[in-house]
Amino acid sequence: MGKNITQKIIASHLVSGKMKAGSEIGLRIDQTLTQDATGTMAWLQFEAIGVPRVKTELSVSYVDHNTLQQGFRNPDDHQFLRTVAAKYGAVFSPPGTGICHQLHLENFAKPGKTLIGSDSHTPTAGGVGSLSMGAGGLSVALAMAGEPYYITMPKVVKVQLEGELTGWATAKDIILHLLGLLTVKGGVGKVFEYAGPGVATLSVPERATITNMGAELGATGSLFPSDAVTKKFLAAMGRPEDYVQLKADPSAAYDEEIVIDLAKLEPLAAKPHMPDRMATIKSLAGLKVNQSAIGSCTNSSYADLKAVALMLKGKRVKPETDLFISPGSKQVLKMLADENLLQIYLDAGARILECTCGPCLGYGGSPMSAGVSARTFNRNFEGRSGTQDAQVYLVSPQTAAMAALNGAFTDPATWGEAPAKPVMPKKVPSIRHLFVFPPEDGSGVEVLRGPNIAPLSRFGRTPDVVEAGVALKVGDDITTDHILPGGTHIMSLRSNIPAISEYLFTNVDKEFVGRIKQMDGGVIVGGENYGQGSSREHAALGPRHLGVKAVIVKSLARIHRANLVNFGILPLLFVDKADYDKVAQGAQVAIPAGKIKPGKAVEAVVDGKLKVKLTNDLTAKELDIILSGGLLNAVGASR
Ligand code: F3S
Repeated sequence: MGKNITQKIIASHLVSGKMKAGSEIGLRIDQTLTQDATGTMAWLQFEAIGVPRVKTELSVSYVDHNTLQQGFRNPDDHQFLRTVAAKYGAVFSPPGTGICHQLHLENFAKPGKTLIGSDSHTPTAGGVGSLSMGAGGLSVALAMAGEPYYITMPKVVKVQLEGELTGWATAKDIILHLLGLLTVKGGVGKVFEYAGPGVATLSVPERATITNMGAELGATGSLFPSDAVTKKFLAAMGRPEDYVQLKADPSAAYDEEIVIDLAKLEPLAAKPHMPDRMATIKSLAGLKVNQSAIGSCTNSSYADLKAVALMLKGKRVKPETDLFISPGSKQVLKMLADENLLQIYLDAGARILECTCGPCLGYGGSPMSAGVSARTFNRNFEGRSGTQDAQVYLVSPQTAAMAALNGAFTDPATWGEAPAKPVMPKKVPSIRHLFVFPPEDGSGVEVLRGPNIAPLSRFGRTPDVVEAGVALKVGDDITTDHILPGGTHIMSLRSNIPAISEYLFTNVDKEFVGRIKQMDGGVIVGGENYGQGSSREHAALGPRHLGVKAVIVKSLARIHRANLVNFGILPLLFVDKADYDKVAQGAQVAIPAGKIKPGKAVEAVVDGKLKVKLTNDLTAKELDIILSGGLLNAVGASR
């Protein structure tokens, strides 16, 4: 039996386990990336592990999230990240250079390599055939220290792309279509591998839009083959030597198969407040749009932004509609400048933002109260834009530009003939000199620690019986944005766990922090898909700091589950989901933590009488980590 691409990359990086779907496997990791919002913690953890030098082939520390420098906090973090990278042998990408995934795709991602990143959209690099996964910062720190990365062997889904996109349909509409089909839970435990004749019709940045939003499916990763299109892309990026061909064997088997006829797709939008709430743009025609925002790691490539420029040429966006454009990297910005396309944006009345995440995480560009925003981003969770009651629709750059020109969504049938897709030049300007490469010997580098860099919190062992009150009960689809809201004033505290913990669940239940402090710790009860969204480990670290000992839910998102394990919080599942209704906020639970065995149910006692069966999907190793009080304790980190 031949192998698919996922199996080939896993086989060549396997350090432990069997390649059988559902079994735990350990993988050798070639590359890592961190971004600043999760990176300061990851680097503090790396230091605690005590390895003198990064052991991966390549590790890059990007600064793209918290780039506004009002006050000392963000600049303190940036200087810490710059110096810690130099000391331990990582590449540093200064603030403003670009968004981590766009930069990684352009400059470092390689076909056939493994990559983990402390950002949930790390799978973007699957666009060049790199098996890339989002992970908690501590997992990334361990990979940088040369440790394997443990995952559950994924199922591999073949996504057969037939035909070619027509009219105004774009790569964004392919992944939106898939999200509508499969929902935000549809990819859990799976890698989506794209195949079929439609693959050759998509450029690498288009492929990367699709792999980027595979994260919204909850997928472990998404992969495209490495072919002639990849070869051309890598050559244009000035690194032809990084190309290797990568394709599935003709006899390769897959666990599931989905067929998409590209010719049948039309412009789509994910409606508020979930990336899988799909509607056609046609059905939204007439809805007034107050703001369009074009950019983010999903849609900020040269081709995306050139397509927008060509649509805006000689026109003016509606005065009542704001249009923001954030190029994904300085390379993209330079190319737009070289071709005089920035003039078009300026004349059309657009606002050009820095090459950063910006509005995607509520860093500027928030919509007006109850405003409708058409965004080319990947997430539209409630409040993420910085405006709690904003209505965010996720769309393609073309749809967002058209909405800005018309001040409303309109029927694509009225847009006229779609222009040809812009083609990337054969050779593009390099921005490699803007990265800070580490010295051969970093031992003499002094790591700068401003007052915003707080020492790491360390936690004690889990007791044999966890006796605690239910400090919070929440419903289905709680995201990491619900657990820890974004926004400038909160995220600038990410290197200071006691300070950031004060904001936990503030948009869900303002009393939570006060209550759990008064209760001296507790457990959280939740519904389906708890912890979906970003890789933000603060969403586990913060609760642990406030004394959360267990999270009892109907189901859990993959990265958040891993983060709970890493920080010693028991992730427990109701055996009978109906029991969720029987455990109220304020109830007292007793969980026999010392008796928990991998995959086996235990009986918890609620309010001294009611027995509730709780199970887990933990491995023996994960259980050990939790009982030792978290991964840093388990690996014997010294500091
Ligand atoms: Fe940044 Fe938004 Fe992507 S925060 S990494 S642009 S999902």
